Amino acid sequence: MILEEIIKRKSVRSYLDKEVEEAKIMEVIEAGRFAPSASNIQPWKFILTTDKDIRNELSIACNRQRFVAEAPVIITACVICRGYNMGGWYDSACLDIGIALDHMTLEAVHLGLGTCWIGAFSEERVKKILNIPGNIKVAALLTLGYPRDPSIIKKHRKPLEEILCREKYE
Ligand SMILES: Cc1cc2nc3c(=O)[nH]c(=O)nc-3n(C[C@H](O)[C@H](O)[C@H](O)COP(=O)(O)O)c2cc1C
Repeated sequence: MILEEIIKRKSVRSYLDKEVEEAKIMEVIEAGRFAPSASNIQPWKFILTTDKDIRNELSIACNRQRFVAEAPVIITACVICRGYNMGGWYDSACLDIGIALDHMTLEAVHLGLGTCWIGAFSEERVKKILNIPGNIKVAALLTLGYPRDPSIIKKHRKPLEEILCREKYE
């Protein structure tokens, strides 16, 4: 079932000028809240932005990606603490937040909404715009809204044999 949403999800970079119902926004957030995180640390805080002026400012801070302002909702995902030390070589916080955001993208599809991950941004500028304290980091942003084109697209992905091996690394 969920594979349907996974296949349907695509980066939406053009949105209808239509508000997203509060109940739908909250369902998307809930999908993130229930996401797993290493040691259940939940090292996240999400900022919901719907104000047009702030969205415009964020769009500039996101390397002037115009569709960021076009989206009626922007979710900014913050790292509020350290995560779990994974395999002795990396902190899980950004991975945890990635899982939460991905849950949100799939719930959004389920509700007829579209999203786009935003990794191209100036952390300094985003923090300033959103009054984020110095000790908090910004991991990523997500745009959310009704897609102008809800059609399913063909995705370009590496073939299975390139990314999967069995029993041992080949
Ligand atoms: C962590 C991350 C950061 C991304 N940052 C941006 C971004 O700043 N701007 C953008 O237009 N797309 C961004 N994308 C979207 C990717 O380009 C997109 O997911 C990829 O090309 C695959 O296409 P699809 O999402 O339609 O399947 C980002 C995706 C991820 C996962």
